[in-house]
Amino acid sequence: MSERLPILYNKKPCYDIVFTQSFDELWDELKALGCDGKRLCIVTDSRVDGFYGNEILGILKDRCLKAVKYVFPNGEENKNLDTVKGVYRFLIEEGFDRKDMLIALGGGVVGDLTGYAAATYLRGVDFVQVPTTLLAQADSSIGGKTGVDFDGYKNMVGAFKMPRLVYMNLATLSTLDDRQFFSGFAEVMKHGLIRDSLFYEWLIENMYEICERDLNVLQEMLQRSCSVKKMVVEKDPTEQGERALLNYGHTIGHAVEKYKNFALYHGECVALGCVAAAYISWKKELLSMDEYYEIRDMFVPFNLPISIEGIEPREIVRLTKSDKKMEGGTLKFVLLKKIGKAVIDRTVTEEEILNAVNEIYFSEEDAHE
Ligand code: GLY
Repeated sequence: MSERLPILYNKKPCYDIVFTQSFDELWDELKALGCDGKRLCIVTDSRVDGFYGNEILGILKDRCLKAVKYVFPNGEENKNLDTVKGVYRFLIEEGFDRKDMLIALGGGVVGDLTGYAAATYLRGVDFVQVPTTLLAQADSSIGGKTGVDFDGYKNMVGAFKMPRLVYMNLATLSTLDDRQFFSGFAEVMKHGLIRDSLFYEWLIENMYEICERDLNVLQEMLQRSCSVKKMVVEKDPTEQGERALLNYGHTIGHAVEKYKNFALYHGECVALGCVAAAYISWKKELLSMDEYYEIRDMFVPFNLPISIEGIEPREIVRLTKSDKKMEGGTLKFVLLKKIGKAVIDRTVTEEEILNAVNEIYFSEEDAHE
């Protein structure tokens, strides 16, 4: 059964998240936003286009003023300003004006990039998120962060731009390979760890159904995960304070992602970052040793890494400094006070980060022990 979760912006209703298991209700949702009188451009990548591009185009065609599709090659390496330029050119050629709308159909790269194109084309046009990966459904399609990578720096150029609707068809999760699916799960686990210990326990209790991708369990999981994100982004939509808690696991995670030149998936790096941050939380006597080991080991049944080979720990530490989480020269590090309660800490030293990176580093010496 479909459910909806309204998201407020500055205390006013802004957009709904619709949780459902097909595309059957998509047109009614779009019509309610006045789409029958608009030009609509689906923006998607080559992977998602193969699965759902024509299905969505078929739903829109003949019901709105004009429906077109812009497809760019799949992959994080295309999340850049050149691809955005391609979108602008296409919209100009197709005669899109300020009243028209973009539809982001795909994962995090598609959603962030389309949102940024929507934020900037003609100084802003509306857009809708139709996330098709677990990462996008659990995290990136909600809260209005949009942007692209620049010179190897992740999400370095961007804007806050709220979507008009987030339409989640959970059946799309069936076309993800295991690595992509579990990578997205890291953000779900993060939501439990930072804000909701009961949800964290529920995830563990429902581990089997989640790994089997039982659609009803995934729907409940996403509704609960998105409720955590809703609480945080409604209080602090533009990350002046509390929203930074969502960056739990991302400081070291982003550094690993950059070091490995995006060969590891985002969620895999976030899982490593969550383990490292939990380690620092233990060493700073916020978490107990048992809690640290429990958190670390809970990523394993969800096929997420808790250690990594082939890194230079000191280089990872250096890369954490170029992360966007620096403010006035100090690093805003997110730690756990307990499971379900994250805090921002500005006292984490380079040495503490290095020790945490060494904790997740699986070296040749370890292999020979
Ligand atoms: N993904 C972190 C945030 O939305 O703030």
